[in-house]
Amino acid sequence: MAKRLNILLVGSGGREHALALRIAASPLTAKLIAAPGNVGIAEIAECVAITADDVPGLVTFAVDNSVDLVVVGPEVALVAGLADRLAEKGIKAFGPSAAAALLEGSKSFMKDIVAKYGIPTAAYARFRDGVAAKAYVAEQGVPIVIKADGLAAGKGVTIANTQAEAQAAIDEALVGGRFGAAGHEIVIEEFMAGEEASYFALVDGETVVPLGSAQDHKAVGDGDMGPNTGGMGAYSPAPVVTPALEQRILDEIVSPLARAMVAEGRPYRGVIFAGLMIVPTPDGPKPRLIEINVRFGDPECQVLLTRLETDPVTLMLATAEGKLADLPPARWRKEAALTVVLCAQGYPGTPVTGTEIKGLDDAASIDGVTVFHAGTGRAADGRLLATGGRVLNIVATGRDVAEAQARAYRAVDSIDWPGGFCRRDIGWRAIAREPVS
Ligand code: AMP
Ligand code: GLY
Repeated sequence: MAKRLNILLVGSGGREHALALRIAASPLTAKLIAAPGNVGIAEIAECVAITADDVPGLVTFAVDNSVDLVVVGPEVALVAGLADRLAEKGIKAFGPSAAAALLEGSKSFMKDIVAKYGIPTAAYARFRDGVAAKAYVAEQGVPIVIKADGLAAGKGVTIANTQAEAQAAIDEALVGGRFGAAGHEIVIEEFMAGEEASYFALVDGETVVPLGSAQDHKAVGDGDMGPNTGGMGAYSPAPVVTPALEQRILDEIVSPLARAMVAEGRPYRGVIFAGLMIVPTPDGPKPRLIEINVRFGDPECQVLLTRLETDPVTLMLATAEGKLADLPPARWRKEAALTVVLCAQGYPGTPVTGTEIKGLDDAASIDGVTVFHAGTGRAADGRLLATGGRVLNIVATGRDVAEAQARAYRAVDSIDWPGGFCRRDIGWRAIAREPVS
């Protein structure tokens, strides 16, 4: 049997709790340590108080504690070069180099690569000058999409429906400095109409291992109303991604991108999370790329891992070692998985924290249900308190999305937390497509 590994997991959300659960259960794991982890992760791993953006702190800890593999949840450390600094010390990382993580770190870099290699995406232009940007918008017309180039915590995108909105978004980024250095350059894009879906694949060099599709719900309110959030729920697989469409996503987007990154001297190792617009055309639905993330989605990771039967550590280690091509195909459960995100009142504005949460054991005892922590803390007397905006993820499996949804909301309803709220319609697009069973 292979040598068992000391694994350092970087991050503190529900995504990392879901990863921790599987890493802790893997026969390949000797020891799991999380930096910084959370209340749920602390039940199954050791947690150390190093944040995900502290690259030197993470590298020093990994060296001093004989870490063999670092699994990186959030993008910030990858864009800052964590995988590169670990490689210099001979430590493996699940997550791309800084040169490859630019796919998420710079929208203009991503668009230039994608355009150069003919991958379908929105037409675009890059600007540093507000006057030129406004002239372009005047010529192109609305709706049009204005994006800060760099990482902007999900807030850097404006869909402008009028020239005035577009001009205001240009000024905010280029003149007002709303996004700091991340907004000194902007990308202005064609607006694509269609249905959004996400696709995930492991990539090492030119080898691509499909992980499947998911759909999340970004708006805070039912019916996709209200401001955008980090994600209010998700499910996998997404029925809009039919087997034929999945093949097109792999053939027209993911595999060409993997080859492009090799050709550019920036081979990609890690998970690719492609945000897609499924655009109706006379020849049927066509996938077009919106964005690339260089990490698992949160909460998409929670549903993907729930469906994955194969040990994820085997897959992540092979990705990190460049040996994905040697693995047998991954095995998946037939069920659908759905997650509902429970948030503190006030989110996505300032959340009300410190409220008490009860009833998690009842929720977790429901068939097919798992509860992941994201923004929780313990009071001195052991009571569970909300400490952030997105607080808990309730994940459920089912024969189809409808059954998974019913179980997830049964679990939600057994949780006693007056200070929290959630959307009640997670999965509606999928359920509308499913035959009534
Ligand atoms: P991003 O931060 O790039 O994921 O963009 C946030 C959201 O803006 C996406 O999930 C889409 O809903 C929307 N969006 C971004 N780019 C486009 C586009 N070119 N056309 C239509 N919608 C877009
Ligand atoms: N749920 C979207 C993301 O993780 O970016």
